[in-house]
Amino acid sequence: MTRTEDTIRIGLLGAGSVGAQVARTLVEEREMISARVGTPVRLVGVAVRDPEAPRDWRIPGELLTTDAEALVDQADVIVELIGGLEPAAGLIDRALRRGAAVVTGNKALLATRGAELNAVAAEHGGVLRYEASVGGAIPILRPIEESLSGDRVVKVMGIVNGTTNYILDQMDSTGAAFDDALAEAQRLGFAEADPTSDVAGRDAAAKAAILSTLAFHAPYSLDDVHCEGITEVTQEDIEAAAMSGYVIKLLAIAEKQTEGAVLRVHPTLLPRTHPLASVRGAFNAVFVVAENAGELMFYGQGAGGRPTSSAIMGDLVAVARRLRAPLAESPTISSEVQLPALPIEKATTQYYIDMDVADREGVIAEIAHVLAEHHVSIESMRQPGVVTTEGEVEDSDNGAKVQIVTHLAREKDLQETVDALHALDVVKTVNSVLRVEVEK
Ligand code: HSE
Repeated sequence: MTRTEDTIRIGLLGAGSVGAQVARTLVEEREMISARVGTPVRLVGVAVRDPEAPRDWRIPGELLTTDAEALVDQADVIVELIGGLEPAAGLIDRALRRGAAVVTGNKALLATRGAELNAVAAEHGGVLRYEASVGGAIPILRPIEESLSGDRVVKVMGIVNGTTNYILDQMDSTGAAFDDALAEAQRLGFAEADPTSDVAGRDAAAKAAILSTLAFHAPYSLDDVHCEGITEVTQEDIEAAAMSGYVIKLLAIAEKQTEGAVLRVHPTLLPRTHPLASVRGAFNAVFVVAENAGELMFYGQGAGGRPTSSAIMGDLVAVARRLRAPLAESPTISSEVQLPALPIEKATTQYYIDMDVADREGVIAEIAHVLAEHHVSIESMRQPGVVTTEGEVEDSDNGAKVQIVTHLAREKDLQETVDALHALDVVKTVNSVLRVEVEK
């Protein structure tokens, strides 16, 4: 498609939880997105079935339209977030035949008609990107397609459905029955009102087809994937697995063999020490094995409006850059932001301090006073006794040990605190000061 003006026009099809977030980013962060592309971008319309429907973000009324085809015909980049096969497929086909770029998260469509749509794109100079279709926010398709394109992927193994991972995790960690865990997933908004495709494994199978196609450089569809869901997994299965050191996960597995590839989705026992075993709740992760790279793991939020919109926006910027300039001239590093690297004194983190101190009254009060003076708050404090050779715990005649974990503190305050602790008579030595990272 030849573009006649500088501004890149974006048309959005669908404004559900992901679409509303994409619209929000394109309106509220327009300057940032334009700077990343290197050319102004503008959301020119959002096609929806019902303009009055409530949405996660209020889309300006002048952008809403019910005429999806007219929108497709006037945009340079189409973001398709309607989902399902039709009318999504017809609209994508129409856009690609115009040579437009299409960004979609539609795994059901990609897994059934991906090859055909890619062929249309190639024939008409269109572009089709679909990072959001597998693993939500996780960058997984581009690493497989681009970063690993000089290697041979031999196996892909993923937790690619958050609903089922949440259910199995609840069954494993709380002893919940399948039905109760499913109801809880629905209450928390992880599972769809109709969770059939998730629990039957079909959602994961679609993602397996997309992953395998890119990983093995061969076209696969949903029909090529053997699929078993989690509806037959009982609490007894989970307990028996746990007794033997295993956890049950619904895995999508694609494995290369000499004469072909086996693609399958089914509940699987994993040793609790396997990296995928620690993927809890509704999180997703994809484990990739390549001949030269070895083992790689990609982890993150596999669903949800904001996380998935991140993958959509990444594809959108990538295709818009291509429209702006031929590949050789496209910006590879954007530098529009003024964000200087700061000295370590500006860091904020938690700290662990280990000291040998005198063992008499008032010592802890003096130490606590020094911390308070420097605005460092204590999260926990331990005074471990000395363990004798007989295994008894007793206080040492020569002093005591104190171990403190602080709340978040500024590095500068912490350094001053440590200097002041050194200067206290009651502190014999500060043995170690280490930074602590806790889960955010
Ligand atoms: N229903 C999917 C899941 C989310 O539970 O992971 C979107 O693919």
